[in-house]
Amino acid sequence: MRNKKAIKFNSRYPSIEDLRERAKRRIPGFAFDYLDGGCNEEVNLRKNTSKIREVELKPDYLSEYKGFNMETELFGHTYSAPFGIAPVGLQGLMWPNASEILAKASLDYNIPFVLSTVTTMSIERASELTEGRAWFQLYHPAENSVRDNILARAEAAACPVLVLLCDVPTFGFRPKEIRNGLSMPPKMTLNNVLQILGKPNWALQTLKHGQPNFETLRPYMPKNLNLKHLGLFMDKMFSKRMNEEKIAPIRDMWKGKIVLKGVATEADAEKALKLGLDGIIVSNHGGRQLDAGESTIKPMTRIAKKYGDQITVMMDRGIRSGPDVARALASGAAFTFMGRSFMYGVSALGAEGGAHTISLLQTQLQQVMEQLGCSRVSDLPSHLI
Ligand SMILES: Cc1cc2nc3c(=O)[nH]c(=O)nc-3n(C[C@H](O)[C@H](O)[C@H](O)COP(=O)(O)O)c2cc1C
Repeated sequence: MRNKKAIKFNSRYPSIEDLRERAKRRIPGFAFDYLDGGCNEEVNLRKNTSKIREVELKPDYLSEYKGFNMETELFGHTYSAPFGIAPVGLQGLMWPNASEILAKASLDYNIPFVLSTVTTMSIERASELTEGRAWFQLYHPAENSVRDNILARAEAAACPVLVLLCDVPTFGFRPKEIRNGLSMPPKMTLNNVLQILGKPNWALQTLKHGQPNFETLRPYMPKNLNLKHLGLFMDKMFSKRMNEEKIAPIRDMWKGKIVLKGVATEADAEKALKLGLDGIIVSNHGGRQLDAGESTIKPMTRIAKKYGDQITVMMDRGIRSGPDVARALASGAAFTFMGRSFMYGVSALGAEGGAHTISLLQTQLQQVMEQLGCSRVSDLPSHLI
């Protein structure tokens, strides 16, 4: 399966940082803070990218080179690149229709798109836009009947991979969001209204597309839920702490692949393996949960070394370029995911943002592979110094 669209990026934004800067200018401060920020003092947030960038790769300049191929087989599908779009909540708040834009781009460029339970597009719409290829990330509901109903919908939507989350036993403590009073829809404080007035393009697009909603959760939400009660509903809706007792029955009932996201230790990787799961994503939720935690490249390298031949070990967090993808794969990841990079792209460039970001990352990764003399992504570990 090849790209449906040619790789082509807008040369005015040749880096993810360019997109981030433009996103900051285009969207209201409360939406940018939600996307860009981390928890507590943001130590973990800052550390992730810098630790990845300590990884060094060696080129083979004089060896014969047979050309590059970055296609990567994952759970029975051959993707056009070794990276995918991580689940992100409230996408429509950051840019109207962001989930739809990214889902469509994932199909056009043949990379995985993971839908969050708490984003602004339904499972059914994600499936329609990706021709049944969207993965689904489940926040575990408190009531098993709701869990079963959501899983039945995901199965009916032909979702091939279910992603379970283990790194949100409690909501992250994020000072920026607390200050902004972030909720869905955002509280109309004077400060937030002023921020919206300062971003007319965002405001117009939001008017055009309508107020974003938790589309997957809509059937379980009481009608006319007011702002005051939304937080309460969300608190009651999910049972946050994941454990083996919750995963085992899901393994029994879900026929497709299951991936555990948020794994940070060898002990949890081993539990995932024993539970019969198909993959893990070593992740720290984008530096949004445990500020004192490790950056993901370190545990991923250890886990891949120990369990990489028994379970598919993937990684997200802090990846902001093609060279970063190469560094993660060379360190042992079978696949990578990015959350913010794609959301910066859409917030910066709207409908073009998904295609641009994927094209940019593919172009950068191709350049690294050619520079290294690396023909296949699976050969990247042999270039690790
Ligand atoms: C604004 C935002 C919202 C997120 N929401 C979710 C979510 O609903 N479910 C989930 O599993 N992960 C969520 N994540 C975490 C991402 O899936 C991913 O782990 C993280 O963004 C990777 O780090 P990166 O942003 O540096 O690429 C969110 C991340 C961000 C930045």
